[in-house]
Amino acid sequence: MNLELTETQTLIRDTARKFAKEKVAPQARTFDREEIFPTALFKELAELGLLGVNLPARYGGAEAGVVAYSLAMMEIAAACASTSVAMSVTNMCAELIHAFATEAQRERFVTKLTSGEAVVGAFALSEPHAGSDPAAMRTTAVRKGDTWVLNGSKQWITSGAHAGVIVVWARTSQQPGNKGLSCFIVEGGTKGLIIGKHEDKMGLRSSNTVSLTFEDCTIPADQLLGKEGEGFKLAMVALDGGRIGIASQACGVARAALEATVRYTKDRQAFKQPVAEFQVPRFMMADMKVQLSAAELLTLRAAYLKETGKPFTREASMAKLYASEMANRVCDKAVQLHGGYGYIDEFPVERYFRDARVQTIYEGTSEVQRMVIARETLKLFNS
Ligand code: CAA
Repeated sequence: MNLELTETQTLIRDTARKFAKEKVAPQARTFDREEIFPTALFKELAELGLLGVNLPARYGGAEAGVVAYSLAMMEIAAACASTSVAMSVTNMCAELIHAFATEAQRERFVTKLTSGEAVVGAFALSEPHAGSDPAAMRTTAVRKGDTWVLNGSKQWITSGAHAGVIVVWARTSQQPGNKGLSCFIVEGGTKGLIIGKHEDKMGLRSSNTVSLTFEDCTIPADQLLGKEGEGFKLAMVALDGGRIGIASQACGVARAALEATVRYTKDRQAFKQPVAEFQVPRFMMADMKVQLSAAELLTLRAAYLKETGKPFTREASMAKLYASEMANRVCDKAVQLHGGYGYIDEFPVERYFRDARVQTIYEGTSEVQRMVIARETLKLFNS
Protein backbone atom coordinates (compact mmCIF):
# COMPACT_ATOMS: atom_id res chain seq x y z
CA MET A 1 0.00 0.00 0.00
CA ASN A 2 1.40 3.35 -1.08
CA LEU A 3 1.10 5.95 1.67
CA GLU A 4 1.51 8.85 -0.81
CA LEU A 5 -1.82 10.14 -2.09
CA THR A 6 -2.34 10.25 -5.85
CA GLU A 7 -3.23 13.53 -7.57
CA THR A 8 -6.87 12.45 -7.80
CA GLN A 9 -7.05 11.49 -4.11
CA THR A 10 -5.49 14.80 -3.13
CA LEU A 11 -7.92 16.68 -5.34
CA ILE A 12 -10.95 14.92 -3.86
CA ARG A 13 -9.71 15.40 -0.29
CA ASP A 14 -8.96 19.08 -0.86
CA THR A 15 -12.30 19.66 -2.59
CA ALA A 16 -14.12 18.05 0.34
CA ARG A 17 -11.97 19.96 2.86
CA LYS A 18 -12.73 23.33 1.24
CA PHE A 19 -16.44 22.60 1.00
CA ALA A 20 -16.52 21.31 4.60
CA LYS A 21 -14.74 24.38 5.90
CA GLU A 22 -16.61 27.00 3.91
CA LYS A 23 -20.13 25.56 3.61
CA VAL A 24 -20.66 22.82 6.20
CA ALA A 25 -18.76 23.79 9.37
CA PRO A 26 -20.27 27.30 9.73
CA GLN A 27 -23.78 25.79 9.82
CA ALA A 28 -23.12 22.62 11.81
CA ARG A 29 -23.95 24.01 15.24
CA THR A 30 -27.26 25.49 14.03
CA PHE A 31 -28.13 22.27 12.21
CA ASP A 32 -27.52 20.37 15.44
CA ARG A 33 -29.38 22.72 17.77
CA GLU A 34 -32.38 23.11 15.49
CA GLU A 35 -32.35 19.56 14.09
CA ILE A 36 -32.21 20.84 10.52
CA PHE A 37 -31.66 18.20 7.86
CA PRO A 38 -29.14 19.85 5.50
CA THR A 39 -31.06 19.17 2.26
CA ALA A 40 -29.39 21.96 0.25
CA LEU A 41 -25.89 20.64 0.98
CA PHE A 42 -26.54 17.38 -0.84
CA LYS A 43 -27.12 19.09 -4.18
CA GLU A 44 -23.75 20.80 -3.76
CA LEU A 45 -22.03 17.61 -2.61
CA ALA A 46 -23.42 15.94 -5.74
CA GLU A 47 -22.13 18.75 -7.97
CA LEU A 48 -18.66 18.27 -6.49
CA GLY A 49 -18.81 14.52 -7.21
CA LEU A 50 -18.90 13.69 -3.50
CA LEU A 51 -22.07 11.57 -3.60
CA GLY A 52 -20.41 9.04 -5.89
CA VAL A 53 -16.68 9.29 -5.31
CA ASN A 54 -16.17 5.59 -6.03
CA LEU A 55 -18.70 5.24 -8.87
CA PRO A 56 -18.08 5.33 -12.61
CA ALA A 57 -18.44 8.68 -14.41
CA ARG A 58 -21.01 7.01 -16.66
CA TYR A 59 -23.41 6.93 -13.68
CA GLY A 60 -22.51 10.37 -12.43
CA GLY A 61 -19.66 9.31 -10.16
CA ALA A 62 -16.20 10.83 -9.74
CA GLU A 63 -14.46 7.48 -10.45
CA ALA A 64 -11.82 8.35 -7.86
CA GLY A 65 -11.81 5.14 -5.79
CA VAL A 66 -12.46 4.05 -2.24
CA VAL A 67 -9.42 5.72 -0.64
CA ALA A 68 -10.55 9.08 -2.07
CA TYR A 69 -14.08 8.38 -0.79
CA SER A 70 -12.74 7.66 2.70
CA LEU A 71 -10.66 10.86 2.68
CA ALA A 72 -13.70 12.89 1.56
CA MET A 73 -15.83 11.33 4.31
CA MET A 74 -13.21 12.26 6.94
CA GLU A 75 -13.33 15.90 5.81
CA ILE A 76 -17.12 16.20 5.79
CA ALA A 77 -17.38 14.39 9.14
CA ALA A 78 -14.84 16.73 10.74
CA ALA A 79 -17.27 19.56 9.93
CA CYS A 80 -20.62 17.85 10.53
CA ALA A 81 -21.08 14.19 11.46
CA SER A 82 -24.80 14.35 10.63
CA THR A 83 -24.12 15.44 7.05
CA SER A 84 -21.45 12.77 6.72
CA VAL A 85 -23.69 9.89 7.79
CA ALA A 86 -26.23 10.79 5.10
CA MET A 87 -23.36 11.02 2.59
CA SER A 88 -22.09 7.62 3.71
CA VAL A 89 -25.47 5.88 3.50
CA THR A 90 -26.15 7.46 0.07
CA ASN A 91 -22.81 6.14 -1.14
CA MET A 92 -23.53 2.68 0.33
CA CYS A 93 -26.89 2.52 -1.51
CA ALA A 94 -25.40 3.74 -4.80
CA GLU A 95 -22.53 1.25 -4.65
CA LEU A 96 -24.87 -1.62 -3.74
CA ILE A 97 -27.22 -0.83 -6.61
CA HIS A 98 -24.29 -0.43 -8.99
CA ALA A 99 -22.84 -3.79 -7.96
CA PHE A 100 -26.01 -5.87 -8.27
CA ALA A 101 -28.34 -3.99 -10.63
CA THR A 102 -29.40 -4.54 -14.20
CA GLU A 103 -28.18 -1.89 -16.63
CA ALA A 104 -31.62 -0.22 -16.61
CA GLN A 105 -31.62 -0.09 -12.79
CA ARG A 106 -28.14 1.41 -12.75
CA GLU A 107 -29.06 4.13 -15.20
CA ARG A 108 -32.19 4.97 -13.31
CA PHE A 109 -31.24 4.70 -9.65
CA VAL A 110 -27.46 5.10 -9.36
CA THR A 111 -27.61 8.31 -11.38
CA LYS A 112 -30.49 9.55 -9.25
CA LEU A 113 -28.29 9.14 -6.15
CA THR A 114 -25.01 10.53 -7.50
CA SER A 115 -26.74 13.57 -9.05
CA GLY A 116 -28.54 14.51 -5.84
CA GLU A 117 -31.91 14.16 -7.61
CA ALA A 118 -32.88 11.64 -4.93
CA VAL A 119 -31.51 14.09 -2.31
CA VAL A 120 -30.05 11.10 -0.43
CA GLY A 121 -30.40 7.33 -0.20
CA ALA A 122 -31.61 5.20 2.72
CA PHE A 123 -30.80 1.64 3.77
CA ALA A 124 -33.79 -0.16 5.29
CA LEU A 125 -32.52 -3.40 6.85
CA SER A 126 -33.11 -3.16 10.64
CA GLU A 127 -36.49 -3.86 12.21
CA PRO A 128 -37.80 -3.18 15.72
CA HIS A 129 -36.82 -6.69 16.90
CA ALA A 130 -34.00 -7.36 14.36
CA GLY A 131 -30.93 -5.11 14.51
CA SER A 132 -27.74 -7.13 15.05
CA ASP A 133 -29.54 -10.17 13.61
CA PRO A 134 -31.17 -8.93 10.39
CA ALA A 135 -31.91 -12.53 9.38
CA ALA A 136 -34.73 -12.41 11.98
CA MET A 137 -36.61 -9.77 9.97
CA ARG A 138 -40.36 -10.13 9.43
CA THR A 139 -41.12 -7.69 6.60
CA THR A 140 -42.48 -9.64 3.65
CA ALA A 141 -42.61 -9.12 -0.09
CA VAL A 142 -45.10 -11.16 -2.12
CA ARG A 143 -44.99 -11.38 -5.91
CA LYS A 144 -48.32 -10.41 -7.53
CA GLY A 145 -48.21 -10.38 -11.33
CA ASP A 146 -45.73 -7.73 -12.41
CA THR A 147 -45.38 -6.31 -8.93
CA TRP A 148 -44.01 -6.99 -5.44
CA VAL A 149 -46.19 -6.11 -2.47
CA LEU A 150 -44.30 -5.17 0.70
CA ASN A 151 -45.67 -5.31 4.26
CA GLY A 152 -43.83 -4.72 7.53
CA SER A 153 -41.82 -2.19 9.53
CA LYS A 154 -38.26 -0.96 9.48
CA GLN A 155 -36.54 0.85 12.34
CA TRP A 156 -33.67 3.36 12.76
CA ILE A 157 -33.65 4.33 9.12
CA THR A 158 -31.10 7.08 8.54
CA SER A 159 -32.46 9.82 6.21
CA GLY A 160 -35.68 7.80 5.81
CA ALA A 161 -37.95 10.83 5.54
CA HIS A 162 -35.79 12.55 2.90
CA ALA A 163 -34.52 9.72 0.73
CA GLY A 164 -35.65 9.51 -2.89
CA VAL A 165 -34.19 6.02 -3.21
CA ILE A 166 -34.44 3.40 -0.45
CA VAL A 167 -33.01 -0.11 -0.51
CA VAL A 168 -35.31 -2.37 1.45
CA TRP A 169 -34.96 -5.98 2.58
CA ALA A 170 -37.92 -8.34 2.91
CA ARG A 171 -38.67 -12.01 3.28
CA THR A 172 -39.77 -13.55 -0.03
CA SER A 173 -40.04 -17.19 0.97
CA GLN A 174 -40.74 -19.34 3.99
CA GLN A 175 -37.10 -20.47 4.17
CA PRO A 176 -35.74 -19.76 7.63
CA GLY A 177 -33.13 -17.19 8.66
CA ASN A 178 -31.02 -15.51 6.04
CA LYS A 179 -32.05 -17.82 3.19
CA GLY A 180 -35.38 -16.35 2.16
CA LEU A 181 -34.49 -12.63 2.01
CA SER A 182 -34.51 -10.38 -1.04
CA CYS A 183 -33.57 -6.78 -1.67
CA PHE A 184 -35.72 -4.14 -3.37
CA ILE A 185 -35.40 -0.57 -4.54
CA VAL A 186 -38.29 1.58 -3.35
CA GLU A 187 -38.68 5.22 -4.32
CA GLY A 188 -39.53 7.80 -1.70
CA GLY A 189 -43.20 8.76 -1.95
CA THR A 190 -44.37 5.33 -3.13
CA LYS A 191 -47.96 4.66 -2.05
CA GLY A 192 -48.06 2.42 1.03
CA LEU A 193 -44.71 3.66 2.34
CA ILE A 194 -45.45 5.42 5.62
CA ILE A 195 -42.82 7.52 7.33
CA GLY A 196 -42.80 7.28 11.11
CA LYS A 197 -41.86 9.80 13.74
CA HIS A 198 -38.46 11.40 13.78
CA GLU A 199 -36.37 9.97 16.63
CA ASP A 200 -35.13 12.49 19.20
CA LYS A 201 -31.51 11.41 19.46
CA MET A 202 -28.59 12.13 21.81
CA GLY A 203 -26.33 13.03 18.89
CA LEU A 204 -26.40 13.33 15.11
CA ARG A 205 -29.35 15.60 15.70
CA SER A 206 -29.52 16.99 12.19
CA SER A 207 -29.45 13.50 10.73
CA ASN A 208 -32.96 12.20 10.19
CA THR A 209 -33.82 8.84 11.81
CA VAL A 210 -37.29 7.36 11.35
CA SER A 211 -39.21 4.14 11.20
CA LEU A 212 -40.69 3.13 7.84
CA THR A 213 -43.88 1.11 7.58
CA PHE A 214 -44.91 -0.71 4.42
CA GLU A 215 -48.65 -1.26 4.07
CA ASP A 216 -49.37 -3.09 0.82
CA CYS A 217 -46.62 -0.99 -0.69
CA THR A 218 -46.61 -2.09 -4.32
CA ILE A 219 -43.57 -1.70 -6.54
CA PRO A 220 -42.86 -2.91 -10.10
CA ALA A 221 -41.27 -6.37 -10.31
CA ASP A 222 -38.18 -4.86 -11.94
CA GLN A 223 -37.30 -3.12 -8.67
CA LEU A 224 -36.03 -6.38 -7.20
CA LEU A 225 -32.27 -5.84 -6.75
CA GLY A 226 -30.09 -8.87 -7.46
CA LYS A 227 -31.54 -12.38 -7.32
CA GLU A 228 -34.58 -13.41 -5.33
CA GLY A 229 -33.45 -15.10 -2.09
CA GLU A 230 -29.94 -13.58 -2.14
CA GLY A 231 -30.77 -10.46 -0.19
CA PHE A 232 -28.77 -11.36 2.91
CA LYS A 233 -25.55 -11.52 0.92
CA LEU A 234 -26.31 -8.11 -0.61
CA ALA A 235 -26.76 -6.65 2.86
CA MET A 236 -23.45 -8.08 4.06
CA VAL A 237 -21.57 -6.85 0.98
CA ALA A 238 -23.08 -3.36 1.37
CA LEU A 239 -22.23 -3.26 5.09
CA ASP A 240 -18.61 -4.26 4.42
CA GLY A 241 -18.26 -1.06 2.40
CA GLY A 242 -20.50 0.96 4.71
CA ARG A 243 -18.23 0.17 7.65
CA ILE A 244 -15.34 1.91 5.86
CA GLY A 245 -17.62 4.96 5.64
CA ILE A 246 -18.41 4.92 9.36
CA ALA A 247 -14.74 4.33 10.27
CA SER A 248 -13.89 7.38 8.14
CA GLN A 249 -16.62 9.35 9.88
CA ALA A 250 -15.17 8.41 13.29
CA CYS A 251 -11.69 9.54 12.19
CA GLY A 252 -13.09 12.88 10.98
CA VAL A 253 -14.98 13.58 14.21
CA ALA A 254 -11.99 12.58 16.38
CA ARG A 255 -9.65 14.76 14.35
CA ALA A 256 -11.97 17.73 14.79
CA ALA A 257 -12.09 17.06 18.55
CA LEU A 258 -8.29 16.88 18.79
CA GLU A 259 -7.84 20.07 16.75
CA ALA A 260 -10.34 21.93 18.93
CA THR A 261 -8.51 20.68 22.03
CA VAL A 262 -5.12 21.81 20.77
CA ARG A 263 -6.53 25.28 20.04
CA TYR A 264 -8.24 25.50 23.43
CA THR A 265 -5.38 24.25 25.58
CA LYS A 266 -2.92 26.62 23.91
CA ASP A 267 -5.22 29.54 24.59
CA ARG A 268 -6.59 28.67 28.04
CA GLN A 269 -4.48 29.71 31.01
CA ALA A 270 -4.41 27.83 34.33
CA PHE A 271 -1.98 28.37 37.16
CA LYS A 272 -0.39 31.22 35.14
CA GLN A 273 0.42 29.22 32.02
CA PRO A 274 -1.38 27.73 29.00
CA VAL A 275 -2.98 24.36 29.80
CA ALA A 276 -1.01 22.93 26.85
CA GLU A 277 2.24 23.55 28.76
CA PHE A 278 1.36 21.00 31.46
CA GLN A 279 2.63 17.48 31.01
CA VAL A 280 -0.64 15.66 31.75
CA PRO A 281 -2.64 17.45 28.98
CA ARG A 282 0.32 17.07 26.61
CA PHE A 283 0.46 13.32 27.23
CA MET A 284 -3.32 13.05 26.82
CA MET A 285 -3.09 14.83 23.45
CA ALA A 286 -0.16 12.63 22.43
CA ASP A 287 -2.28 9.53 23.09
CA MET A 288 -5.23 11.05 21.21
CA LYS A 289 -2.99 11.68 18.19
CA VAL A 290 -1.47 8.16 18.20
CA GLN A 291 -4.90 6.52 18.42
CA LEU A 292 -6.32 8.77 15.70
CA SER A 293 -3.41 7.98 13.36
CA ALA A 294 -3.79 4.23 14.01
CA ALA A 295 -7.50 4.46 13.15
CA GLU A 296 -6.79 6.47 9.98
CA LEU A 297 -4.27 3.87 8.82
CA LEU A 298 -6.65 0.95 9.51
CA THR A 299 -9.41 2.78 7.66
CA LEU A 300 -7.32 3.69 4.63
CA ARG A 301 -5.94 0.15 4.48
CA ALA A 302 -9.47 -1.29 4.36
CA ALA A 303 -10.33 1.28 1.67
CA TYR A 304 -7.22 0.37 -0.31
CA LEU A 305 -8.02 -3.36 -0.15
CA LYS A 306 -11.55 -2.72 -1.37
CA GLU A 307 -10.30 -0.42 -4.13
CA THR A 308 -7.79 -3.01 -5.37
CA GLY A 309 -10.37 -5.81 -5.42
CA LYS A 310 -8.91 -7.77 -2.49
CA PRO A 311 -10.92 -9.30 0.39
CA PHE A 312 -11.61 -6.57 2.93
CA THR A 313 -14.49 -7.80 5.14
CA ARG A 314 -12.31 -8.32 8.20
CA GLU A 315 -10.26 -5.15 7.64
CA ALA A 316 -13.42 -3.04 7.28
CA SER A 317 -14.73 -4.42 10.59
CA MET A 318 -11.35 -3.85 12.27
CA ALA A 319 -11.31 -0.25 11.04
CA LYS A 320 -14.92 0.36 12.12
CA LEU A 321 -14.40 -1.24 15.54
CA TYR A 322 -11.17 0.56 16.35
CA ALA A 323 -12.05 3.94 14.82
CA SER A 324 -15.47 4.18 16.48
CA GLU A 325 -14.11 3.22 19.92
CA MET A 326 -11.15 5.57 19.40
CA ALA A 327 -13.50 8.45 18.51
CA ASN A 328 -15.41 7.91 21.75
CA ARG A 329 -12.20 7.94 23.80
CA VAL A 330 -10.76 10.95 21.98
CA CYS A 331 -13.98 12.98 22.26
CA ASP A 332 -14.23 12.10 25.96
CA LYS A 333 -10.68 13.39 26.54
CA ALA A 334 -11.45 16.48 24.45
CA VAL A 335 -14.39 17.32 26.73
CA GLN A 336 -12.21 16.68 29.80
CA LEU A 337 -9.45 18.96 28.57
CA HIS A 338 -11.97 21.75 27.94
CA GLY A 339 -13.10 21.58 31.57
CA GLY A 340 -16.51 23.18 32.12
CA TYR A 341 -16.39 24.69 28.61
CA GLY A 342 -16.38 21.17 27.20
CA TYR A 343 -19.84 20.63 28.63
CA ILE A 344 -21.62 23.59 27.02
CA ASP A 345 -22.58 24.07 23.42
CA GLU A 346 -20.52 27.22 22.81
CA PHE A 347 -17.59 24.89 22.18
CA PRO A 348 -17.98 22.15 19.58
CA VAL A 349 -16.53 19.25 21.58
CA GLU A 350 -19.80 18.44 23.36
CA ARG A 351 -21.37 17.93 19.91
CA TYR A 352 -18.48 15.74 18.78
CA PHE A 353 -18.86 13.69 21.99
CA ARG A 354 -22.60 13.18 21.41
CA ASP A 355 -22.11 12.47 17.68
CA ALA A 356 -19.38 9.88 18.28
CA ARG A 357 -21.53 7.79 20.62
CA VAL A 358 -23.63 6.06 17.97
CA GLN A 359 -20.59 5.04 15.94
CA THR A 360 -20.02 1.94 18.08
CA ILE A 361 -23.67 0.99 17.53
CA TYR A 362 -24.83 1.60 13.95
CA GLU A 363 -23.73 -0.37 10.88
CA GLY A 364 -22.95 -3.19 13.27
CA THR A 365 -22.19 -2.78 16.98
CA SER A 366 -18.64 -3.24 18.28
CA GLU A 367 -19.75 -6.71 19.36
CA VAL A 368 -20.88 -7.56 15.81
CA GLN A 369 -17.54 -6.29 14.44
CA ARG A 370 -15.73 -8.62 16.86
CA MET A 371 -17.92 -11.52 15.62
CA VAL A 372 -16.93 -10.74 12.02
CA ILE A 373 -13.23 -10.27 12.85
CA ALA A 374 -13.13 -13.53 14.82
CA ARG A 375 -15.01 -15.44 12.09
CA GLU A 376 -12.68 -14.19 9.34
CA THR A 377 -9.53 -14.73 11.45
CA LEU A 378 -10.52 -18.30 12.35
CA LYS A 379 -11.23 -18.97 8.65
CA LEU A 380 -7.67 -17.91 7.80
CA PHE A 381 -6.20 -20.24 10.39
CA ASN A 382 -8.39 -23.11 9.13
CA SER A 383 -7.03 -22.89 5.59
N1 CAA B 1 -19.94 -10.89 2.22
C1 CAA B 1 -20.58 -11.85 1.52
N2 CAA B 1 -21.29 -12.84 2.09
C2 CAA B 1 -21.34 -12.87 3.43
C3 CAA B 1 -20.69 -11.91 4.23
C4 CAA B 1 -19.96 -10.88 3.57
N3 CAA B 1 -19.33 -9.94 4.26
N4 CAA B 1 -20.92 -12.17 5.52
C5 CAA B 1 -21.68 -13.28 5.56
N5 CAA B 1 -21.93 -13.69 4.29
C6 CAA B 1 -22.69 -14.88 3.89
C7 CAA B 1 -22.03 -16.13 4.46
O1 CAA B 1 -21.03 -16.61 3.59
C8 CAA B 1 -23.18 -17.09 4.58
O2 CAA B 1 -23.47 -17.61 3.32
P1 CAA B 1 -23.93 -19.17 3.17
O3 CAA B 1 -25.17 -19.32 4.00
O4 CAA B 1 -24.15 -19.33 1.71
O5 CAA B 1 -22.80 -19.99 3.72
C9 CAA B 1 -24.35 -16.16 4.96
O6 CAA B 1 -23.98 -14.84 4.51
C10 CAA B 1 -24.63 -16.13 6.44
O7 CAA B 1 -23.44 -15.77 7.12
P2 CAA B 1 -23.34 -15.89 8.70
O8 CAA B 1 -23.73 -17.28 9.11
O9 CAA B 1 -22.01 -15.38 9.13
O10 CAA B 1 -24.49 -14.87 9.15
P3 CAA B 1 -25.11 -14.57 10.56
O11 CAA B 1 -26.57 -14.61 10.45
O12 CAA B 1 -24.43 -15.39 11.62
O13 CAA B 1 -24.76 -13.00 10.76
C11 CAA B 1 -23.51 -11.05 11.31
C12 CAA B 1 -23.51 -12.53 10.81
C13 CAA B 1 -22.09 -10.59 10.99
C14 CAA B 1 -23.80 -10.93 12.78
C15 CAA B 1 -24.53 -10.19 10.50
O14 CAA B 1 -25.84 -10.54 10.81
C16 CAA B 1 -24.35 -8.70 10.75
O15 CAA B 1 -23.48 -8.07 10.12
N6 CAA B 1 -25.18 -8.09 11.65
C17 CAA B 1 -25.17 -6.65 11.87
C18 CAA B 1 -26.14 -5.96 10.96
C19 CAA B 1 -25.84 -4.50 10.83
O16 CAA B 1 -24.69 -4.08 10.68
N7 CAA B 1 -26.88 -3.68 10.81
C20 CAA B 1 -26.72 -2.28 10.62
C21 CAA B 1 -27.96 -1.69 10.04
S1 CAA B 1 -27.68 -0.58 8.76
C22 CAA B 1 -27.23 0.88 9.47
O17 CAA B 1 -26.95 1.01 10.62
C23 CAA B 1 -27.12 1.93 8.44
C24 CAA B 1 -27.39 3.30 8.94
O18 CAA B 1 -28.46 3.79 8.75
C25 CAA B 1 -26.29 4.11 9.50
